[in-house]
Amino acid sequence: MNNKKMKVALLGCTGTVGVQFARLLEDHPYFQLVALTASGRSVGKPFGEAVGSLAWAGMSDALRAMPIGECTADWIGSSDARIVFSALPASIAGDLELELRDRGCLVFSNASSHRMDPQVPLVISEVNASHLTLIHEQRLRFAGSIVANPNCSAAGLVIVLKALLRFGLRGATVTTLQALSGAGKRGVAALDIMGNVIPYIPEEEDKIACETKRMLGCLAHGRIADHDAGLFVSCSRIPVRDGHLQSLVVELEEDVSRDTFVRALEGFSAEPQQLELPTAPTAPIIVLPGDDRPQPLLDARAGEPHRARGMAVSVGRIRKLGERFALFLLVHNTVRGAAGASVLNAELAFRMGYLDEGDR
Ligand SMILES: NC(=O)c1ccc[n+]([C@@H]2O[C@H](COP(=O)([O-])OP(=O)(O)OC[C@H]3O[C@@H](n4cnc5c(N)ncnc54)[C@H](OP(=O)(O)O)[C@@H]3O)[C@@H](O)[C@H]2O)c1
Repeated sequence: MNNKKMKVALLGCTGTVGVQFARLLEDHPYFQLVALTASGRSVGKPFGEAVGSLAWAGMSDALRAMPIGECTADWIGSSDARIVFSALPASIAGDLELELRDRGCLVFSNASSHRMDPQVPLVISEVNASHLTLIHEQRLRFAGSIVANPNCSAAGLVIVLKALLRFGLRGATVTTLQALSGAGKRGVAALDIMGNVIPYIPEEEDKIACETKRMLGCLAHGRIADHDAGLFVSCSRIPVRDGHLQSLVVELEEDVSRDTFVRALEGFSAEPQQLELPTAPTAPIIVLPGDDRPQPLLDARAGEPHRARGMAVSVGRIRKLGERFALFLLVHNTVRGAAGASVLNAELAFRMGYLDEGDR
């Protein structure tokens, strides 16, 4: 492996996802953070000042002092970074990410803008690493490429469903209880959410169903055929800071015992674990024995080693109901559901040889 670190830029560095990226990239073994961007409100400010209360203990002085630049293709291009992590709102990400791809960048995006573009791989590294070959397809037409990661709830759900796929997935019913940080740093008005639950998140239910089926789908001849499982999703926003809890009822084709079901979840691992990627959790799914777990406060940051905290999906309350299984799962929305998923995709792309000389 080449010891020289690849230069990377981070777009939207001051948001709830952006700060998680900065934390993961601060001392990354493969990547060196050379450029930060945010909106005009933050341009020119040192990172530490611009992030305010989203700062974390132990942030290095160098990162704290790093100035925030303009979020334009010209400024990003001048930084010499060819790998770009995007934590921008979709309204800004759409055109800018296409422009960066035209200029030869490899963009790892959290925005929803290009997730359903047939040319763009939508990837959770443990689930569909093979879809990364769409990077090559894009490069036949553009100078660079875009790799997307999914909606934060879909990121946790799809890992659990992937572990069960070998039993045949007929369908699933999912009800989410989603944390406030999923709504970005401006979030939801305090008086709307304090002591309350809002049983609606715009566009979320369709995103979770469509993106999950896409990631579980098969790639053939440069196209993805979505998985045909029936997914029925209902979403709510709750007054919790981090961690999306989901009640899942899953219907399998094979009649398996509860023990077999639990072993399939606990034993699940994939390419990131085999390659021992820096941000890969040793166990992507942790099954908790207690009757009252997982809980956002206790379990959102599950995952070992230290760099992978928040990258494991916690599962509990597993019950067999005839041919169906019910469980609760918990995913850290800004880590496994966003920045951590993107960084892991980039690590995997690097180790699989997709970040060739043209991307450095
Ligand atoms: N939050 C989650 O759990 C989550 C999970 C998965 C995916 N995502 C996706 O990730 C992206 C970021 O989400 P977030 O929750 O981190 O949002 P956020 O907290 O609102 O942060 C948005 C970031 O974008 C910057 N920005 C806003 N308007 C801009 C403009 N006109 N030009 C340049 N930069 C601009 C902001 O800079 P300023 O600070 O200067 O305003 C900030 O750095 C979104 O596409 C979201 O859908 C979020």
